[in-house]
Amino acid sequence: MARVAIVTGGTRGIGRAICEALRSDGLTVVANYAGNDDKARAFTEETGIAAYKWDVGDHAASLAGCEQVTAEVGPVDVLVNNAGITRDGTLLKMSFEDWYDVMRINLGGCFNMAKACFPGMKERGWGRIVNIGSINGQAGQYGQVNYAAAKSGIHGFTKALAQEGARFGITVNAIAPGYIDTDMVAAVPANVLEKIVARIPVGRLGHAEEIARGVSFLASEDGGFVTGSTLSINGGQHMY
Ligand code: CAA
Repeated sequence: MARVAIVTGGTRGIGRAICEALRSDGLTVVANYAGNDDKARAFTEETGIAAYKWDVGDHAASLAGCEQVTAEVGPVDVLVNNAGITRDGTLLKMSFEDWYDVMRINLGGCFNMAKACFPGMKERGWGRIVNIGSINGQAGQYGQVNYAAAKSGIHGFTKALAQEGARFGITVNAIAPGYIDTDMVAAVPANVLEKIVARIPVGRLGHAEEIARGVSFLASEDGGFVTGSTLSINGGQHMY
């Protein structure tokens, strides 16, 4: 039986590329999404991959959503915590809501989804958790105290959970993408983005598929000895 993978924030951007890569690897893939029904409908029509709607920042909704996926598709073997938002602004201009929403969704989402999926992985003696961090969680970024803190938290979360999962056959790793040509990066003001791209040694934005290839490896059987690691895919922008 094919292993089952769930990709949060899976209907757009990097998440969509991850869904498609895991599906080509032979997994049964489902995507989770929180907001954009039209995009999710189009995603399912175009890819044939089912999309389930809930907010990963909501603990009870995440437990219920994963229970529904387990009942309808099968127990989750591979969890990709990809869902994330930005609410950029300097500290002076950042509201508590902007801080809290990013922490709740980006970092809290990893906790909520791991709580839902880890026990079943433990029971079956096999699991893969891949958390999408960020270059900005490694290096910091002007205007992102919320996002950088949440992503940095994801890197710590990964290393802690990797230690807990190892004896149950569960690997836990992170990928730290750099600037990738998604809607999220397109929202950065053009003059700011231009300066950021000028600092990328490879000389361009990354592609979502380039992140997905990394997830594909970490989620595979071959990735069994890799745990607690962070794979930086950033065009050389930050060597860490
Ligand atoms: N370092 C030092 N100073 C900086 C700076 C930097 N990196 N960037 C801007 N400044 C300075 C500016 O020069 C300006 O100074 P002056 O007033 O003296 O000219 C001052 O800070 C104010 O800058 P802004 O005009 O940019 O301030 P703003 O409030 O209008 O905008 C901002 C702030 C919204 C954070 C904007 O700078 C911005 O969008 N920055 C990009 C943030 C970013 O990279 N987000 C990534 C999103 S994608 C993502 O997160 C995915 C991923 O994982 C990589």
